[in-house]
Amino acid sequence: MAVALILVLVAIGSVAFHLWSPWWWTPIASNWAYIDSTIIITFWITGAVFVAVVLFMAYCVYRFRHRPGLQATYEPENRRLEWWLTVVTGVGVAAMLTPGLFVWRQFITVPEDATTIEIMGQQWQWSFRLPGPDGKLGISDTRLISPENSLGVSRDDPNALDDIVVEGGELHLPVGKPVKALLRSVDVIHDFYVPEMRAKMDLVPGQVSYIWFTPTRTGTFEILCAELCGVGHSMMRGTVVVQEQSEYQAWLEDQASRSFARLAPAAQ
Ligand code: CUA
Repeated sequence: MAVALILVLVAIGSVAFHLWSPWWWTPIASNWAYIDSTIIITFWITGAVFVAVVLFMAYCVYRFRHRPGLQATYEPENRRLEWWLTVVTGVGVAAMLTPGLFVWRQFITVPEDATTIEIMGQQWQWSFRLPGPDGKLGISDTRLISPENSLGVSRDDPNALDDIVVEGGELHLPVGKPVKALLRSVDVIHDFYVPEMRAKMDLVPGQVSYIWFTPTRTGTFEILCAELCGVGHSMMRGTVVVQEQSEYQAWLEDQASRSFARLAPAAQ
């Protein structure tokens, strides 16, 4: 009886803890509210299954407790019950996977008016490249990386000369404008993650992955690396500053000294 009661308390306690938990997401700051919805659906489905299983256990512990002289029947197969469990499990799994497919389609479909930027990960810092006044990001290649050209920007691309290179500093973005970030890694796999933006994506050496999002409110947010990448992994942090368009423009104009042409003169 005590065991059954404890099981019931575990079920009630888990639901209560979920509802009144002090650990919840930070307020969202991007368009990816879908990700929250997907997680909430998964929470409720797995939560309902968890409560049902624990309560069923409590019921069995109580109902089939030891009584002198009573013997259990042996029933290794039950086709009806197996069918029933298979169908219910299948529906539950499909209900958790289907919303994810819709979100994924949006996740990989970048809006046409998105500004392309570059985010470079290396042990253990974040660097960024933003299009300069021409609004176009020049091409880059990790093979071109040198001490003077830390992001491997191509000198042969005229669009690259005015690009703003921010090495290990803050990433500034205007609010309300979609960005497509090309993700590159110099060394090992890293993962770009800003909890307030919800979405995250790996940076894989040897390939260019991407992520897109629209910052929906101004503020300063922390960038975390969400992939174990060596002893400095936990220190691999960065900062995103989301600003009003006018403030962003003013900041961008101040950054002329960080243009690729100034940082790495063509002479080398
Ligand atoms: Cu980079 Cu963890």
